[in-house]
Amino acid sequence: MIKACIFDLDGVIVDTARYHFVAWKKLANALGFDFDEAFNEKLKGVSRIESLNLILEKGGVTLTESEKEQWAARKNDWYLEYIEKMTEDEILPGVAAFLQSCRAEGIKIGLGSASKNAPMILERIGLMEYFDVIIDGNKTSRSKPDPEVFLLGAQALSCEPRECVVFEDAEKGIEAALAGGFFAVGVGTKEQLPEAHLVISGFENIDLTQFIQTLRNI
Ligand code: BG6
Ligand code: MG
Repeated sequence: MIKACIFDLDGVIVDTARYHFVAWKKLANALGFDFDEAFNEKLKGVSRIESLNLILEKGGVTLTESEKEQWAARKNDWYLEYIEKMTEDEILPGVAAFLQSCRAEGIKIGLGSASKNAPMILERIGLMEYFDVIIDGNKTSRSKPDPEVFLLGAQALSCEPRECVVFEDAEKGIEAALAGGFFAVGVGTKEQLPEAHLVISGFENIDLTQFIQTLRNI
């Protein structure tokens, strides 16, 4: 029986993935190189510092730990310039209605995100009140594809992983959900997320009761 839904944030609830992309690109350009959207896919779901390491490796740039911290902070400042302007208009289509249905059906709601900015974003878009539990980058020590973030979420929601559905837009997030024994629902395309139990393009027109019925047949 499904008792809880755990949502990734960036790319599932809001399209902040493009703000991360723009801010990281600015950092790469400042260091004298560039990367494209295909490479950016590798950064989705990955923690700030691990993303920086992947980008530096791509550009062949070596930095000391303290330089890395400074660049990561700079990137976050650029990213926050976008986040500060966010409103509820940026909630992805159908998400608010889906959260309301979960509430109405007594399905618990958790957040499982690598972002340290997650609480601030939920406040800005006005969805904070829906979440029973928030596990973010401040509470985890291991990045997706490690299942830690979702396991902590299930524990805090007093549910077993097999009683929870995880919604993820990143390949590493789907890997994490599968490694933890969760139902892994990809938000995107089957090509991007071939390992997911089920893939949806978004939450628009997703009926919760029918959706849970579909999961029962998997
Ligand atoms: C994840 C994003 O949700 O959070 C990554 O998919 C991002 O792209 C990571 O790097 C960390 O986010 P933040 O907000 O703590 O820099
Ligand atoms: Mg994501």
